Amino acid sequence: MQILVLGGTQFLGRHVVTAALERGHDVATFTRGTSGLPAPGARALHGDRDDPAALPRALADWAPDAVVDTSARTRAAARNAAAALGGVSRYAFVSSLNAYRGWPPGPVGPEDDEPTWDTEDDDYGPVKAFAEREIGAVVGPGFLTARAGLVVGPYDYVHRLGWWLERIARGGRVVVPAEGVAQPIALVDARDLAGWLVDGVEQGRGGAVNATGPAGMTTLGGLLDCCREVTGGDATWVPVPEAELLAAGVEPWIHLPMWLPAETARTAWDVDTTRARALGLPSRPLRETVADTWAWQPGDRRPVYSPMGLPRPGLPAELEADLLRRS
Ligand SMILES: NC(=O)c1ccc[n+]([C@@H]2O[C@H](COP(=O)([O-])OP(=O)(O)OC[C@H]3O[C@@H](n4cnc5c(N)ncnc54)[C@H](OP(=O)(O)O)[C@@H]3O)[C@@H](O)[C@H]2O)c1
Repeated sequence: MQILVLGGTQFLGRHVVTAALERGHDVATFTRGTSGLPAPGARALHGDRDDPAALPRALADWAPDAVVDTSARTRAAARNAAAALGGVSRYAFVSSLNAYRGWPPGPVGPEDDEPTWDTEDDDYGPVKAFAEREIGAVVGPGFLTARAGLVVGPYDYVHRLGWWLERIARGGRVVVPAEGVAQPIALVDARDLAGWLVDGVEQGRGGAVNATGPAGMTTLGGLLDCCREVTGGDATWVPVPEAELLAAGVEPWIHLPMWLPAETARTAWDVDTTRARALGLPSRPLRETVADTWAWQPGDRRPVYSPMGLPRPGLPAELEADLLRRS
């Protein structure tokens, strides 16, 4: 098949390209060209998807049989894709659990029972929900929307797992959320999701799928232990109670990535993935994900940055020193 990846050069999209090439497809990426080139073997088409003329221009000589869309960030991007690609009958769209009106805090039940956003604002979740509707309406039954949970793995520029790996590798006393370590969490390896998206367009699959790991696949503490095993070193955990973390100004999810206060965590990680499991979304061993992410980790060699104005994850040094002094 001729598979067009809208995106394809950074993280999840990069793995989609690799998976599609490995399966013998003819692959093109469509990007502005600011984030580098796709994997060798894919053709690089260029343009800004916010510009209505760009996709038709780029696709004048290359008509896709299927699309995997990892890069819709604006309403214009969704409208332009719908206008240019509505004739394509297989379209896998990467959405987010944020498309649900009730998440966070959740919980998220079966896909068809949960309302998505229908507001006009340009927040992340409402834009994802709009894009699902806009593109889904023109593609029809072969429109697959993967409402992704926490995506991790090599090339993850959002750097949530990456920050923990770096911090734990440095060793010494490491602040961890006292109540949070026992909290079940779930995540999906970008390579598992990528392969499954390609599989989805091969099969002509449609519908909405909560695309994340099985609820309870690990705990935050289990993930941190795994980071310590993989990086080696002498890190010891310093559990700090939630009330103290919040009083000190520690921002959940940002300063201690993947940590949510107990009240939110209890439901936010409770996502029904029955459909994802039935449709074969894999969940590789956590250790493999962590080890491969660490093996890729660019360290000082290349900057890892956060996209879309998200604050860079991690505990500021002064805040960490303050918490450790008191513990
Ligand atoms: N990380 C998570 O935990 C998480 C959770 C839920 C959902 N998601 C979703 O998963 C997807 C992750 O994607 P990714 O960033 O890893 O994918 P990616 O496809 O590897 O990278 C993003 C691509 O978008 C291209 N792009 C950005 N703006 C563009 C524009 N205006 N016109 C054309 N191309 C543009 C970038 O290339 P250029 O810069 O060269 O244009 C880049 O190739 C996103 O849709 C995100 O919302 C992520």
